[in-house]
Amino acid sequence: MATFLITGGNRGLSLAFARELIFRPASAARPTGVHVTKSDVTDKASIQKPWPYVEKALGGKGLDFLINNAGVAHWADDGTKSMNNLEEIFKVNVLGVHWVSRTFLPLLEKGELKKVANIASTVGSIALAPAYSFMPAPAYKLSQAAVHPLTVQYSLDYEKQNFAFIAISPGWLNMELGGGDMADWTPEQGAKASLDIIYRPDAEKNGKLLKVFVDGCQNAEGPTRYDGESAPW
Ligand SMILES: NC(=O)c1ccc[n+]([C@@H]2O[C@H](COP(=O)([O-])OP(=O)(O)OC[C@H]3O[C@@H](n4cnc5c(N)ncnc54)[C@H](OP(=O)(O)O)[C@@H]3O)[C@@H](O)[C@H]2O)c1
Repeated sequence: MATFLITGGNRGLSLAFARELIFRPASAARPTGVHVTKSDVTDKASIQKPWPYVEKALGGKGLDFLINNAGVAHWADDGTKSMNNLEEIFKVNVLGVHWVSRTFLPLLEKGELKKVANIASTVGSIALAPAYSFMPAPAYKLSQAAVHPLTVQYSLDYEKQNFAFIAISPGWLNMELGGGDMADWTPEQGAKASLDIIYRPDAEKNGKLLKVFVDGCQNAEGPTRYDGESAPW
């Protein structure tokens, strides 16, 4: 039985991850139960607090997968100059990923699979920036640009210990953060396609920002090209 820790688990993509994992066909990579605990990823003490609860739930085993999913986005209605929330967004989307990862590294070291998936977005890609200019969320884009190199740094530090650190862009999802109905994909589809990446062999993906694969969308033009390939920074 594989063990997963998912941040931001009460709604959106993380809830879809939990559902998708629990209802997968029985296999060694499927967890057999769900435990819920409360934590604010922007508060180091709050991240530490669930440690005994998590350790107890693992029953002496290590952690196989950490999915850093908690995230926030805000619109800046008058462009980049009106971006007033950069600090808050960085705290959740970048520092939160760093603080949660390093807090739970000792449990991941004890785990068999040692995989960390940072849920990110191609909106942070500098190369793809013109294609995303219709989306007025500069602070979110800046934070996503930082998650990719953060993932690379961790992957280089831990590759000799057989860890895999990956960033995954789950597609444009029709939740609050994704702008609701403007988006084209459900959280369930995003979770399933992200898990397909998480379960892929590590050599193909360590340190990369990967897009999900959606049959029929692999040749689409612009931001909805879901071809399973790595995205440029
Ligand atoms: N939606 C998209 O189109 C899209 C596309 C690409 C990438 N992503 C990424 O996917 C991830 C999930 O997004 P989503 O669409 O599921 O968003 P969502 O529906 O808004 O859910 C965000 C989750 O993060 C949690 N969260 C926010 N701040 C937190 C904090 N300080 N500490 C702990 N948890 C916190 C929220 O908890 P509360 O309910 O308590 O606020 C909620 O569970 C994000 O990292 C996002 O960047 C989303």
